[in-house]
Amino acid sequence: MRAFLTSKAARRALRPVADLIDQRIERHVRRALESAPAARTTPGAGVSPDAALHQELKTLRNRQRPLELFFDGTGRGASRLPSAPHLNRTIAELAQVTGDRDGAERNVAQAFRLLIAMEALGVGRIAGGTMNIVGKLSAVPLLDPPNDEVLEIGTLYGMFGAALIRMLERAGRDPKLTIVDPLAGTQLQPGATMGDDASGTPVQGAAVRVNLALAGAAGAAARIQQGFSEDPEVRALVSDRSYGVVIVDGDHSAAGVAADLEWAERIVAPGGIVVLDDFGHPKWPGIKEAFDKHMATDTRFAYLGQVAHSGYLRASA
Ligand SMILES: C[S@@+](CC[C@H](N)C(=O)[O-])C[C@H]1O[C@@H](n2cnc3c(N)ncnc32)[C@H](O)[C@@H]1O
Repeated sequence: MRAFLTSKAARRALRPVADLIDQRIERHVRRALESAPAARTTPGAGVSPDAALHQELKTLRNRQRPLELFFDGTGRGASRLPSAPHLNRTIAELAQVTGDRDGAERNVAQAFRLLIAMEALGVGRIAGGTMNIVGKLSAVPLLDPPNDEVLEIGTLYGMFGAALIRMLERAGRDPKLTIVDPLAGTQLQPGATMGDDASGTPVQGAAVRVNLALAGAAGAAARIQQGFSEDPEVRALVSDRSYGVVIVDGDHSAAGVAADLEWAERIVAPGGIVVLDDFGHPKWPGIKEAFDKHMATDTRFAYLGQVAHSGYLRASA
């Protein structure tokens, strides 16, 4: 009998029964894991080490979920959890463009924490990928603009402008921000259909003010000029000074960027910085197209390099 039970033929014949028993055991263990408190699933308490590990993993996953909410893309469209290689690449690109490796490492860490904090406390979101935002916030102070006047063309919720104020203050600067944006309720992009914003917040002056208030006195003092950057009246109103920094992040079409670069030539201070957002971004080919055409003209700008999806230019003195 014993010889029969261990024979190949018997094992083959009994396999369906054995499989059925295995499935039943697995079902019982799964049910026990789902309903049992942790103590019952520890080794020695009647459940296998595998099951205990499974239970521990489940507990960890459950605990991790609320922590992920600090970083994932829900309510802002993009995840804020960059990988180590992404962070390292951004630091290397920043060091290349600014010539300051230590400053690049420090600013990336500070800018990353700031981004998470601003989106947690503010209304709306900052537009774009994490490394691009962190790169811009880090690069501008490191490039040591010749004065503290900052013009942001295209602000969406004003949250990036508020964060940039904070980064410039960290470098001992006294930033004065001017914003130009139609603040039309939604993000406007000629030629592109922009759906409802992931944040659920309307793009309007009230949101911009709330976010600027997070940046203290300099945020509250920021000038907001509602309108389009190519509008001569808007231009006249904000062309009353030379800007140490001009951020081109409004109309992303080739014609829109060309118009903003042409305006920037006239209002950026000697030695001033122009940040071209979404530079080389596959979704916005018009930016690189306008840049290439502009650089072939008799321009004051010299190209400094690229960090993530932003290009950096410096105006001649
Ligand atoms: C990509 S978002 C800006 C994001 C913001 N700088 C940030 O970092 O979060 C582009 C903004 O520019 C605005 N815009 C579109 N056309 C514009 C124009 N001609 N002049 C100024 N702003 C414009 C859009 O409505 C939108 O609010």
